[in-house]
Amino acid sequence: MKLSGRDWISIVGVLVLVGLLGLGTGKGKGKAIPLDDRHRSSYLALKDGRSRAQVELICVTCHNNTSLPLPEKHPPKEQCLVCHDLVRL
Ligand code: HEC
Ligand code: HEC
Repeated sequence: MKLSGRDWISIVGVLVLVGLLGLGTGKGKGKAIPLDDRHRSSYLALKDGRSRAQVELICVTCHNNTSLPLPEKHPPKEQCLVCHDLVRL
């Protein structure tokens, strides 16, 4: 099959679209939550069967504007655990 100019335009269009989508998903995710002493209590609470919403209240006891502000361009931040994965135990 011979590809015409129109075909190439569509192919490039699709590739660009796929590339942008891939970028978007990579960018939305923050770093994994470190498994250290400060974060152990959150891990334990989750393991004990606390709901995600309850654990996120623990996060903001430290990560808030007064003691540990989030980076300036941090995305809207209600549900930490959607974007910050736990390290696999
Ligand atoms: C006891 C206080 C405290 C609590 C509770 C806490 N954090 Fe943190 N967190 C810190 C401090 C201090 C740092 C920076 C130093 C470090 O890496 O430990 C940090 C660092 C981080 C980082 C960045 C790690 C990196 O690699 O730069 C992420 C992401 C994070 N916390 C997410 C969370 C989430 C999500 C929760 C709730 C599940 C949470 N934290 C609960 C104190 C806390
Ligand atoms: C919509 C997704 C999303 C949500 C929800 C979210 N974060 Fe983030 N977080 C990110 C991204 C992306 C970054 C990296 C931002 C940057 O590079 O400026 C980040 C960065 C951070 C950092 C700095 C670590 C570093 O990269 O150096 C901390 C700490 C953090 N988030 C904590 C939290 C806490 C606590 C919550 C809940 C209150 C939360 N995040 C909710 C996506 C999210």
